[in-house]
Amino acid sequence: MSELKNLLREPLRSFKPYVAGKPIEEVRRELNLSGRIAKLASNENPLGTSPKALEAMHKAIDEVYLYPDDNAYYFRKKVAERFEVGIENVFAAAGSVEVLELAAIAFLNPGDRVVTSQRTFAIYALAAMKAGADLQMAPMIDGGFRYDLPALAALINDKTKIVFLANPTNPTGTWFTKGEFDAFMDRVPADVLVVYDSAYEEYATVDDLPDPMRHFRAGRRLLYVRTLSKAYGLAGMRIGYAIGPADMVHGLMTCRVPFNASLVAQVGAMAAMDDLEFVHKSRDFNAGEIQFLRDGLKDLPVVVPPSQTNFVLIDTKKDANWLFVELQKKGIIVRPMAAAGMPGAIRVSPGLREDNERFVKHLRELLAS
Ligand SMILES: Cc1ncc(COP(=O)(O)O)c(C=O)c1O
Repeated sequence: MSELKNLLREPLRSFKPYVAGKPIEEVRRELNLSGRIAKLASNENPLGTSPKALEAMHKAIDEVYLYPDDNAYYFRKKVAERFEVGIENVFAAAGSVEVLELAAIAFLNPGDRVVTSQRTFAIYALAAMKAGADLQMAPMIDGGFRYDLPALAALINDKTKIVFLANPTNPTGTWFTKGEFDAFMDRVPADVLVVYDSAYEEYATVDDLPDPMRHFRAGRRLLYVRTLSKAYGLAGMRIGYAIGPADMVHGLMTCRVPFNASLVAQVGAMAAMDDLEFVHKSRDFNAGEIQFLRDGLKDLPVVVPPSQTNFVLIDTKKDANWLFVELQKKGIIVRPMAAAGMPGAIRVSPGLREDNERFVKHLRELLAS
């Protein structure tokens, strides 16, 4: 029999799929561990889910024999009212990654240019590559941990369709300021779509973060992307949203899978958005535990860039994959950053205090070995 033709589209042939944080049960199974396993790998909320969201979702579960509202009317209306925009400006998504993927599917032709930063959220590059785009990534500044917005602006040419930005960013945790972003937007041509991914915004405690909505209101092609996965504790529900110009939202709608936001997710997201007490508690708890991690590592030969997120990047002189494997044996899952071009770095999201204590203790031992 002759060899089967490779059915994969050309841009996908050399492609590696996204690697997510390792699930707890996978580590338990693989290493046959019985004790507590702390997952500090996926920037989840160690305080769990908003109790208001949990209650609403428990009630909604009886309804799941029905399809969800395909227009996500009440959820989108809630977002629209919160941000004082029209419902036609709101897209409901199965997690914010869906918005990022759909933006690439809806707006990119092969060969169009996509601009982003190196060492930022991997999905931007993956989405661009899947679409056969000309991907351009600016190096980072400030030790290689912070976006260089002027360098990004310099990469924009007349073929550029999309700029992807995360602020604060993942995996380095750093952020760019309002002044930096406003100056950047002055340099971005009006027809370029700026995807502003604000996944960690709720955790930020600085007061100089940009106001992306100001640019949207000024008529710019900006998609403001938000998630319920982090501070609201709904990562497992897969729900997020984007606010943007009606024609952009229409483009996303055209390419999405019908019923993308599940019935329980829509209900949970609405309740979670009303539970600001939980969000503030999560932010304060996170700030304390990030400080605890920083303090626990400060005398070590590691670099920990400033973070306005619910994780820290820890750049060590050791092999990150080795640290990842050794920490797993101790029941701690972190995220190795070798594949992201940082062979010595791990990314760690704080868990509960006892988990963070265990992490600091074991990392100190490993770095001393
Ligand atoms: C910058 C950034 N954007 C988006 C996401 C994905 O969020 P969601 O769970 O809403 O798909 C993440 C998740 O880690 C992220 O770091």
